[in-house]
Amino acid sequence: MSGSTCSAPDRVALPRNSDGVFTEIAGTYDFINKVLSFGQEQNWRKRAISKLAHGRLLDLGSGTGAALPALGGFDVVALDPEAAMLGISPITQKVVGYGERLPFPDGSFDAVFSAYVFRNLTSVDDTLTEIARVLRPGGKAAIVDLGRPRNQWLARLHRLGSAIVLPTIGTLVGSRDSYGYLHRSLDKLVPPEELYADGPLRVESLWRMGTFGFVYGVILVNE
Ligand SMILES: C[S@@+](CC[C@H](N)C(=O)[O-])C[C@H]1O[C@@H](n2cnc3c(N)ncnc32)[C@H](O)[C@@H]1O
Repeated sequence: MSGSTCSAPDRVALPRNSDGVFTEIAGTYDFINKVLSFGQEQNWRKRAISKLAHGRLLDLGSGTGAALPALGGFDVVALDPEAAMLGISPITQKVVGYGERLPFPDGSFDAVFSAYVFRNLTSVDDTLTEIARVLRPGGKAAIVDLGRPRNQWLARLHRLGSAIVLPTIGTLVGSRDSYGYLHRSLDKLVPPEELYADGPLRVESLWRMGTFGFVYGVILVNE
Protein backbone atom coordinates (compact mmCIF):
# COMPACT_ATOMS: atom_id res chain seq x y z
CA MET A 1 0.00 0.00 0.00
CA SER A 2 1.25 3.43 -0.80
CA GLY A 3 0.73 7.02 0.19
CA SER A 4 0.58 9.91 -2.23
CA THR A 5 2.10 13.40 -2.52
CA CYS A 6 -0.52 16.07 -3.17
CA SER A 7 -2.26 19.30 -2.25
CA ALA A 8 -4.91 17.64 -0.07
CA PRO A 9 -4.96 18.24 3.70
CA ASP A 10 -2.57 16.10 5.77
CA ARG A 11 -3.88 12.62 6.38
CA VAL A 12 -4.87 12.16 10.01
CA ALA A 13 -6.86 9.44 11.71
CA LEU A 14 -10.56 10.32 11.69
CA PRO A 15 -12.94 8.80 14.23
CA ARG A 16 -15.32 6.50 12.40
CA ASN A 17 -18.71 5.01 13.19
CA SER A 18 -17.43 1.81 11.62
CA ASP A 19 -14.17 1.72 13.63
CA GLY A 20 -12.81 -1.82 13.65
CA VAL A 21 -15.89 -3.32 12.03
CA PHE A 22 -14.36 -3.90 8.62
CA THR A 23 -11.09 -5.15 10.06
CA GLU A 24 -13.06 -7.73 12.02
CA ILE A 25 -15.16 -8.93 9.10
CA ALA A 26 -12.57 -8.55 6.29
CA GLY A 27 -12.24 -12.34 5.89
CA THR A 28 -15.99 -13.04 5.65
CA TYR A 29 -17.19 -9.78 4.08
CA ASP A 30 -17.26 -10.81 0.39
CA PHE A 31 -19.01 -14.12 1.03
CA ILE A 32 -21.65 -12.65 3.35
CA ASN A 33 -22.24 -9.73 0.96
CA LYS A 34 -23.01 -12.18 -1.86
CA VAL A 35 -25.42 -14.16 0.33
CA LEU A 36 -27.24 -11.08 1.68
CA SER A 37 -27.69 -9.58 -1.80
CA PHE A 38 -28.78 -12.92 -3.31
CA GLY A 39 -25.77 -12.66 -5.61
CA GLN A 40 -26.83 -9.22 -6.92
CA GLU A 41 -24.16 -7.01 -5.34
CA GLN A 42 -21.87 -7.08 -8.42
CA ASN A 43 -24.77 -6.38 -10.80
CA TRP A 44 -25.66 -3.32 -8.68
CA ARG A 45 -22.04 -2.12 -8.95
CA LYS A 46 -21.93 -2.83 -12.73
CA ARG A 47 -25.06 -0.81 -13.46
CA ALA A 48 -23.45 2.29 -11.91
CA ILE A 49 -20.00 1.68 -13.43
CA SER A 50 -21.52 1.36 -16.93
CA LYS A 51 -22.41 5.08 -16.77
CA LEU A 52 -18.75 6.17 -16.29
CA ALA A 53 -16.31 7.02 -19.09
CA HIS A 54 -13.02 5.08 -19.01
CA GLY A 55 -9.94 6.76 -17.54
CA ARG A 56 -8.27 7.09 -14.11
CA LEU A 57 -10.79 5.97 -11.50
CA LEU A 58 -10.76 6.26 -7.72
CA ASP A 59 -12.50 3.34 -5.98
CA LEU A 60 -13.38 5.15 -2.73
CA GLY A 61 -13.79 2.76 0.22
CA SER A 62 -12.54 -0.03 -2.04
CA GLY A 63 -12.32 -2.61 0.75
CA THR A 64 -11.25 -6.00 -0.57
CA GLY A 65 -11.39 -4.74 -4.17
CA ALA A 66 -14.58 -6.65 -4.93
CA ALA A 67 -15.46 -4.15 -7.69
CA LEU A 68 -12.30 -4.87 -9.72
CA PRO A 69 -13.86 -7.48 -12.08
CA ALA A 70 -16.44 -4.84 -13.05
CA LEU A 71 -13.80 -2.15 -13.61
CA GLY A 72 -12.14 -3.47 -16.79
CA GLY A 73 -10.78 -0.63 -18.96
CA PHE A 74 -10.20 1.73 -15.99
CA ASP A 75 -6.88 2.67 -14.38
CA VAL A 76 -8.01 1.91 -10.82
CA VAL A 77 -6.68 3.45 -7.59
CA ALA A 78 -8.10 1.84 -4.43
CA LEU A 79 -8.53 3.93 -1.28
CA ASP A 80 -9.66 2.62 2.10
CA PRO A 81 -8.84 3.43 5.76
CA GLU A 82 -8.66 -0.27 6.66
CA ALA A 83 -5.31 -1.83 5.78
CA ALA A 84 -6.80 -5.26 6.55
CA MET A 85 -9.34 -4.85 3.72
CA LEU A 86 -6.79 -3.45 1.23
CA GLY A 87 -4.34 -6.19 2.21
CA ILE A 88 -6.49 -8.87 0.56
CA SER A 89 -7.40 -6.72 -2.45
CA PRO A 90 -6.11 -7.69 -5.95
CA ILE A 91 -5.97 -3.98 -6.97
CA THR A 92 -2.31 -2.96 -7.40
CA GLN A 93 -2.56 0.80 -6.70
CA LYS A 94 -3.68 1.04 -3.06
CA VAL A 95 -3.79 4.02 -0.72
CA VAL A 96 -4.74 3.99 2.97
CA GLY A 97 -6.90 7.07 3.54
CA TYR A 98 -10.31 8.54 4.18
CA GLY A 99 -12.98 9.82 1.83
CA GLU A 100 -13.23 12.96 3.94
CA ARG A 101 -9.56 13.87 3.27
CA LEU A 102 -8.50 12.45 -0.05
CA PRO A 103 -4.70 12.36 -0.43
CA PHE A 104 -4.76 13.29 -4.14
CA PRO A 105 -4.22 16.48 -6.15
CA ASP A 106 -7.12 18.56 -7.51
CA GLY A 107 -8.65 17.25 -10.76
CA SER A 108 -6.57 14.07 -10.73
CA PHE A 109 -9.37 11.57 -11.54
CA ASP A 110 -11.70 11.10 -14.51
CA ALA A 111 -14.16 9.15 -12.38
CA VAL A 112 -14.91 8.16 -8.80
CA PHE A 113 -16.73 4.98 -7.83
CA SER A 114 -17.92 4.10 -4.35
CA ALA A 115 -19.99 1.06 -3.40
CA TYR A 116 -21.55 0.35 0.00
CA VAL A 117 -19.43 3.00 1.72
CA PHE A 118 -21.46 6.19 2.21
CA ARG A 119 -23.44 5.08 5.26
CA ASN A 120 -20.10 4.37 6.99
CA LEU A 121 -18.61 7.81 6.42
CA THR A 122 -17.96 10.27 9.25
CA SER A 123 -19.07 13.10 6.94
CA VAL A 124 -20.92 12.73 3.64
CA ASP A 125 -20.63 16.51 3.05
CA ASP A 126 -16.83 16.52 3.43
CA THR A 127 -16.50 13.43 1.23
CA LEU A 128 -18.64 14.94 -1.55
CA THR A 129 -16.56 18.13 -1.37
CA GLU A 130 -13.40 16.06 -1.68
CA ILE A 131 -14.79 14.04 -4.60
CA ALA A 132 -15.65 17.31 -6.38
CA ARG A 133 -12.09 18.52 -5.74
CA VAL A 134 -10.27 15.43 -7.12
CA LEU A 135 -12.59 14.99 -10.14
CA ARG A 136 -11.62 16.77 -13.36
CA PRO A 137 -14.24 19.20 -14.73
CA GLY A 138 -16.96 17.10 -16.35
CA GLY A 139 -15.84 14.00 -14.42
CA LYS A 140 -18.51 11.78 -12.87
CA ALA A 141 -18.95 9.92 -9.61
CA ALA A 142 -21.03 6.75 -9.36
CA ILE A 143 -22.21 5.83 -5.87
CA VAL A 144 -24.06 2.68 -4.84
CA ASP A 145 -25.26 2.03 -1.31
CA LEU A 146 -27.88 0.38 0.81
CA GLY A 147 -30.56 2.10 2.86
CA ARG A 148 -34.25 1.51 3.40
CA PRO A 149 -37.18 1.32 0.96
CA ARG A 150 -38.96 4.66 0.37
CA ASN A 151 -42.38 3.36 1.45
CA GLN A 152 -42.51 3.62 5.27
CA TRP A 153 -44.36 0.30 5.75
CA LEU A 154 -41.90 -1.55 3.56
CA ALA A 155 -39.10 0.26 5.41
CA ARG A 156 -40.46 -1.04 8.74
CA LEU A 157 -40.69 -4.56 7.36
CA HIS A 158 -37.17 -4.29 5.99
CA ARG A 159 -35.90 -2.94 9.34
CA LEU A 160 -37.46 -5.89 11.18
CA GLY A 161 -35.88 -8.32 8.71
CA SER A 162 -32.39 -6.86 8.97
CA ALA A 163 -32.69 -6.70 12.79
CA ILE A 164 -33.14 -10.47 12.78
CA VAL A 165 -31.04 -11.60 9.82
CA LEU A 166 -27.83 -9.54 10.26
CA PRO A 167 -27.14 -10.29 13.97
CA THR A 168 -28.01 -13.97 13.31
CA ILE A 169 -25.42 -14.16 10.53
CA GLY A 170 -22.99 -12.26 12.77
CA THR A 171 -23.45 -14.86 15.51
CA LEU A 172 -22.85 -17.68 13.01
CA VAL A 173 -19.57 -16.14 11.78
CA GLY A 174 -18.47 -14.98 15.26
CA SER A 175 -18.91 -11.21 14.64
CA ARG A 176 -22.31 -10.44 16.19
CA ASP A 177 -21.47 -6.82 17.13
CA SER A 178 -20.10 -5.99 13.68
CA TYR A 179 -23.15 -7.34 11.87
CA GLY A 180 -25.37 -5.52 14.40
CA TYR A 181 -23.56 -2.35 13.33
CA LEU A 182 -24.37 -3.10 9.67
CA HIS A 183 -28.08 -3.34 10.58
CA ARG A 184 -28.00 0.02 12.42
CA SER A 185 -26.05 1.72 9.61
CA LEU A 186 -28.96 1.20 7.18
CA ASP A 187 -30.91 3.90 9.08
CA LYS A 188 -28.04 6.34 9.45
CA LEU A 189 -28.61 8.59 6.44
CA VAL A 190 -31.58 10.43 4.96
CA PRO A 191 -32.90 8.91 1.69
CA PRO A 192 -30.54 9.41 -1.28
CA GLU A 193 -33.12 11.61 -3.04
CA GLU A 194 -32.43 14.17 -0.24
CA LEU A 195 -28.82 13.30 0.57
CA TYR A 196 -27.35 14.32 -2.80
CA ALA A 197 -29.83 17.04 -3.78
CA ASP A 198 -27.91 20.12 -2.59
CA GLY A 199 -24.30 18.89 -2.72
CA PRO A 200 -21.34 20.25 -4.71
CA LEU A 201 -22.01 17.78 -7.57
CA ARG A 202 -25.07 17.77 -9.83
CA VAL A 203 -27.32 14.70 -9.71
CA GLU A 204 -27.47 13.32 -13.25
CA SER A 205 -29.53 10.23 -12.43
CA LEU A 206 -30.67 8.28 -9.39
CA TRP A 207 -32.31 4.87 -9.36
CA ARG A 208 -33.36 2.21 -6.87
CA MET A 209 -32.70 -1.54 -6.99
CA GLY A 210 -33.07 -4.67 -4.84
CA THR A 211 -35.97 -5.90 -2.70
CA PHE A 212 -38.46 -3.02 -2.20
CA GLY A 213 -35.77 -0.66 -3.63
CA PHE A 214 -33.49 -0.65 -0.57
CA VAL A 215 -30.39 -0.26 -2.80
CA TYR A 216 -29.72 2.93 -4.76
CA GLY A 217 -27.33 4.12 -7.43
CA VAL A 218 -26.59 7.74 -8.22
CA ILE A 219 -24.48 9.50 -10.87
CA LEU A 220 -23.04 12.88 -9.86
CA VAL A 221 -21.36 15.28 -12.28
CA ASN A 222 -18.60 17.78 -11.51
CA GLU A 223 -19.72 20.83 -13.51
C1 LIG B 1 -19.15 -2.40 3.07
S1 LIG B 1 -17.47 -2.10 2.68
C2 LIG B 1 -17.53 -1.90 0.91
C3 LIG B 1 -16.24 -2.26 0.22
C4 LIG B 1 -16.24 -2.17 -1.31
N1 LIG B 1 -16.48 -0.83 -1.77
C5 LIG B 1 -17.22 -3.13 -1.94
O1 LIG B 1 -17.95 -2.74 -2.86
O2 LIG B 1 -17.25 -4.31 -1.55
C6 LIG B 1 -17.26 -0.45 3.27
C7 LIG B 1 -15.85 0.04 3.15
O3 LIG B 1 -15.84 1.43 3.46
C8 LIG B 1 -14.64 1.69 4.15
N2 LIG B 1 -14.76 2.98 4.87
C9 LIG B 1 -15.26 3.22 6.10
N3 LIG B 1 -15.14 4.51 6.43
C10 LIG B 1 -14.55 5.13 5.37
C11 LIG B 1 -14.14 6.47 5.10
N4 LIG B 1 -14.34 7.44 5.98
N5 LIG B 1 -13.55 6.73 3.91
C12 LIG B 1 -13.37 5.75 2.99
N6 LIG B 1 -13.73 4.46 3.20
C13 LIG B 1 -14.32 4.16 4.37
C14 LIG B 1 -14.47 0.49 5.06
O4 LIG B 1 -13.16 0.36 5.55
C15 LIG B 1 -14.88 -0.64 4.12
O5 LIG B 1 -13.80 -1.19 3.42
